[in-house]
Amino acid sequence: MDTTLLCLLALVTTVGAVGNYGTFASPANNASLKFRYWLPDASVDTDTVSRDIEEAGAIGAGGVEFLGIYNYGGSLAPQPAGADWATYGFGTPAFNKILKASLQTAKNAGMVYDFALGPNQGQGVPAETTDEGLHWDLAPFNVSIPSNGSYNGRIPGWGTGELVSLVSARVVSSSIIVNPASSLFSTPANNATRLVLATGSLADHTHEVTTNGTVSLAFNVTEQARYHLFAYYQYQDLVKNLDIEENSTGTIFDNGSYTVDHFSGRGAQTTINFWENYILNDTDIKELLQEVGRYGWEDSIEIKSNISWSPCIPDVFEQINGYQLRKYIPLVMYGNNNPGVQPSYPGTLQCVLDSEDQGEGYINDFRAALEKGYQGYLDTLTSWLEGLGLGYSAQISYNLPLNMEGNVNQVDAPECESLAFNNNLDGYRQFSGVANVAQKEVISNEMGADLERAFALPISELLGQINTAFAGGINQIVLHGQSFTGDYYETTWPGYTSFFMLFAESYYSKQPAWAHGFSDAINYVSRNQYVLHVGQPRTDVALYNGVSMTNPQLETLYSSNDMIRAGYTYIYLSPANLNLSQAYVSDGLLAPEAPAYKAIVVTSEQNVTLAGVKALQNYANAGLPVILSGGLPGYYPSGAATDQAAVYAALETLNKSRNVYTTGNGEVASKLEQLNLPPRVAVQTNGTWYPVLRTDNSTDYVYIFSKDSSSEGYITVSSIETPYLFDSWTGKTTPLLHYQTASNTTMIPLRLAANQTIVLAFNSRLKSEVATPSLHAVRLPSNVLGYNYTTTNSLLLHTSTDVCSDCIFQLSNGTTHNLAVNTTTPTTTLTNWTLIAEHWEAPSNMSDASIQAAKRNTTHHLDTLVSWLDIPALQNASGLGYYSASFTWPPTSSSNIDGAYLTLPPIAQGIRVFVNGNNVGPLDLTNPKVDIGPYLTTGANHVTAIVPTMMWNYIRSIFGEIEISGIAPLLSDPLPDRVGNGLIGEVKVIPYTTLHYVI
Ligand SMILES: *[C@@H]1O[C@H](CO)[C@@H](O)[C@H](O)[C@H]1NC(C)=O
Repeated sequence: MDTTLLCLLALVTTVGAVGNYGTFASPANNASLKFRYWLPDASVDTDTVSRDIEEAGAIGAGGVEFLGIYNYGGSLAPQPAGADWATYGFGTPAFNKILKASLQTAKNAGMVYDFALGPNQGQGVPAETTDEGLHWDLAPFNVSIPSNGSYNGRIPGWGTGELVSLVSARVVSSSIIVNPASSLFSTPANNATRLVLATGSLADHTHEVTTNGTVSLAFNVTEQARYHLFAYYQYQDLVKNLDIEENSTGTIFDNGSYTVDHFSGRGAQTTINFWENYILNDTDIKELLQEVGRYGWEDSIEIKSNISWSPCIPDVFEQINGYQLRKYIPLVMYGNNNPGVQPSYPGTLQCVLDSEDQGEGYINDFRAALEKGYQGYLDTLTSWLEGLGLGYSAQISYNLPLNMEGNVNQVDAPECESLAFNNNLDGYRQFSGVANVAQKEVISNEMGADLERAFALPISELLGQINTAFAGGINQIVLHGQSFTGDYYETTWPGYTSFFMLFAESYYSKQPAWAHGFSDAINYVSRNQYVLHVGQPRTDVALYNGVSMTNPQLETLYSSNDMIRAGYTYIYLSPANLNLSQAYVSDGLLAPEAPAYKAIVVTSEQNVTLAGVKALQNYANAGLPVILSGGLPGYYPSGAATDQAAVYAALETLNKSRNVYTTGNGEVASKLEQLNLPPRVAVQTNGTWYPVLRTDNSTDYVYIFSKDSSSEGYITVSSIETPYLFDSWTGKTTPLLHYQTASNTTMIPLRLAANQTIVLAFNSRLKSEVATPSLHAVRLPSNVLGYNYTTTNSLLLHTSTDVCSDCIFQLSNGTTHNLAVNTTTPTTTLTNWTLIAEHWEAPSNMSDASIQAAKRNTTHHLDTLVSWLDIPALQNASGLGYYSASFTWPPTSSSNIDGAYLTLPPIAQGIRVFVNGNNVGPLDLTNPKVDIGPYLTTGANHVTAIVPTMMWNYIRSIFGEIEISGIAPLLSDPLPDRVGNGLIGEVKVIPYTTLHYVI
């Protein structure tokens, strides 16, 4: 064997630190993956919590997001026997003690620490029930006016709360409508009534109500003219995000935590007051938070209401809309509570007008007022946390009847989630656009809460979801989540599992993958995050999205794939986003600092306001191409919709203006190409590739994700700087060998496996840090398996001895070499495997949840590598597979063999591979392949692979014995199927010849 190969493995380069994100090879903790950490309650063993956090840091996590979960606030199960959530609730002295210890642990480990602002989702805190900052609801009541036309007496619902409005209206017609069922929330379809009201007939009677709640009203009722009376009362429903059934301590903590008003700054103030008075009054905690804390955090908004409300809404409404809300509440009472978590319960009565827009303009205005109130909530928390030297991270608005895009920029680190976004890349585009324009450093994602996948979500699938989020503009993953490993009340092994196994996943040392490959996946994610943090994003196209409410399912808005096929990157911006100071046009680019959109697109499905058309007109005047796709957009009404004609006239003017273009549905890409606006990373492939481009002063970083299928093709990048390959699995930086340059572009051929990603960096100055040849290949035969370049050895090509169809290796100076070989050396497929299965099982005492696992071994002989489902003794097993096989080297006596690559099948849950005892290093799970030349010896060679399994098949087999916090897991029969485990497929040794070129 060519001994110089031994030296090549040291080709590890650290590329200089950018910002405070560390290096690509070793990203700083604040650019690395984090875990959401679920604390069952504050009574649990503090040392175990500290050890859990240390262990997360030890396998590469940059930090934790610390959250007291309390059985999902008591809503999935009450506190178990023995627990005392009043004494050990959020913000209690006991809680503060464990908070302090965990902060100290994070500090010692150099980790980043985020913390929920309250228990469960952070929606509220312990409070006095008289606190005006607690959640408000608006209760609706209605009654038909009797046929004699007079209504004398108590108004409906009197006594429910403070009367906000009493309104009458003439009813034109009435019908039954169906509120949809929801499979996610297991709620049935149900009927509601729809009333069509006569436009102009709404009358406000609020001031006619006596202090006893009576009115005396008369209407001219006829067969054709029936009347209806509507009454609305605001009240605090004292809904809790931590519910406790028993009182025990006689303190503010007895009642758990009350959800606060999310439509006013006053609600935020209740949270702040609690923190200041009960947590930050401990100066140690305050100092630790300022040292290691990064974000105060809040989960998605899961507050239920009749109608989203705060007492400030009427004033806010009048202030921004110029008229009073009171009379129009009947028009906004339906579908304006929490569409995300109450999909089957938008209301039992929907009122619309008999006008052209059916009263939609009033709904739009109401949502605008809610949005203003919500921003007051977000701004108050943001200012407070920033004042502490921290930041606010929150899952922004997407359950609520608001345009999410108008709110994302209100916090320091906006967060979304793979669950609510259904892993839909286009949903992420709706989230990340404004965050990019507002130059948010972090766009976060709660990743991997997959329904009914607990213990059964392969890491490879998780990485596919993560890469989808990255392709959609996300750059921070917070894994859902890390579980406490110790004992808890009425809880068996494997321990306290949040959401009672409804959602994936428990990441902890009880997972066989935790110490056997998971760190490779974490490092891979963190290195990609590093690339997605540095510099600034560059995105080709912005799409206008002027809805009053984001669909809670985050469905795809631009459904044509023309832009994706060409490599155009795009996101969505709401009209409000266009008012951001960064959203100006310069040199034909929108938001020129970042992301520098080359055009804005308005599809005909959109509705626009006069202000929206004016913004587009200003952009066109300033030189930004405005593309109207599929026809002119429609009208977005406000109030009584009096400006409709003006909007259509403005659209006509826009349509005739310079820099404004029209195109057909789904033909944006061809229009852009016509306008000589190519994608920054042009794509040609037989699969689907999603590029992400970031750029700093010196380097363009291109991340490419090949979704779903293996594919080949090439990308064309607008740079002629030297390209480097940044390997996110190993952290190594190497010069790219094969590409072609034209006047201003570099074309790079690529072949990618399903769900594989690649990172390329373009920067000629990296030559000073990374050994770089002065020539590159413009033609590279298919039999080149790999290459190495060092200054001492120049280029070493590893070629297989396979027959090649085009064997010409051509360098950029024009010299050519024929790489055809005459002697073929066969690839060896390893067979005759020994599998030692290390079973990780429950301890004999099931109630000992603190044990990692009881372990025992079985041995199996396998001719071929099949799933554990096909090995009867391992169908219900979980643990580690130690696979070993041998092969003889060299395979033939021919002298032209210098080494070999080891290739493995795609890996689901992680792997560690050893050749003759040498760890070959991290492998790309989508396409495992490694040069094992340096480890080969003449004669017998041994390959060992350690393969962790998912836990589900074993958990499933003992399912009936599992108890979590006093109840059985919440998965019902039939349980999800068993999952495939182990090393499945072929492992091959592919010999190569080393060819040496001085370039
Ligand atoms: C809903 O309305 C339909 C049609 O009026 C009726 O047949 C059905 O029974 C109603 N369902 C419920 C749950 O009331």
